[in-house]
Amino acid sequence: ISVVIEEALQKSGIDLKDVDAFAVTKGPGLVGSLHVGLQAAKTLSLAYRKPLIGVHHIAGHIYANRLVGEMVYPCLALVVSGGHTELVYMPSPMKFEVIGTTYDDAVGEANDKVARVMGLPYPGGPIIDRMAKTGEHTYSLPKPLNDDTFNFSFSGLKSAVINLVHNTKQRGEEIIPENLARSFQDVVVDVLVEKTIHAAKAYQVKQIVLAGGVAANSQLRAELTEMVAQQLPKVALTIPPLWCCTDNAAMIGVAAYYEYQKGTRHGWDLNAVPNLKLGER
Ligand code: KG4
Ligand code: ZN
Repeated sequence: ISVVIEEALQKSGIDLKDVDAFAVTKGPGLVGSLHVGLQAAKTLSLAYRKPLIGVHHIAGHIYANRLVGEMVYPCLALVVSGGHTELVYMPSPMKFEVIGTTYDDAVGEANDKVARVMGLPYPGGPIIDRMAKTGEHTYSLPKPLNDDTFNFSFSGLKSAVINLVHNTKQRGEEIIPENLARSFQDVVVDVLVEKTIHAAKAYQVKQIVLAGGVAANSQLRAELTEMVAQQLPKVALTIPPLWCCTDNAAMIGVAAYYEYQKGTRHGWDLNAVPNLKLGER
């Protein structure tokens, strides 16, 4: 982590003594990685006598949108990453209400598992995205949890893809990977976009923001842009640039800025919380 901090300081041209506060992800995530960050941030905060601010990882993803422009409230965030698939209603800054979540796999996780059964390396999401561009929707796949709730489910769809691949192999036939990528992605993007539009209408939000690693998906970005313009022309849509969609430290800094303004200061007893819920202290 020292190497990363040194490079970040060099690239930004900032000196550690100019830093006002040290932000760190307190959860959720793998406990080992969380501890590395926490120890580093606590050490810096102690050495430079500056406040320590713990941030929720998903609050970071959502606030990556502030790197692009303003956020207006009430706001709806579609959070799509390797570990999360959530619709989050935000009545005001830093207030989070999870109105829908996945019953099983997160969307990024489903992408990565489908990619693995297709023999693609990890993370498979970006590769499926690329392959889908030249593919056609030729495989029929079930639309998951096609209901009126704001919840998601991706394990059935994932299993359908895995079965399709195995059955095709057993018949001695070949899968056309580009077409499978496109068929799978069409179903995933459709359900994400439909439920987001439905929630935005139900909660009468002024803005929709996209967040998380899967926000880098080109088809999701395009389809959400098109559907919001068509169905909710008065609602603003913000999509973070690619560089701040997948995990990064800048977004944790932005969320910490709002925590700092709210008066949040953490002590040396700040601990990693691997399953921290959004909005939990
Ligand atoms: O937010 P993130 O960087 O890490 C977590 O907090 O989970 O998200 C990583 C996930 C991986 O599952 C990866 O496959 C997916 O984001 N991902 C994509 C794309 N880029 C990254 N999924 C679909 N299309 C992409 N272009
Ligand atoms: Zn993430």
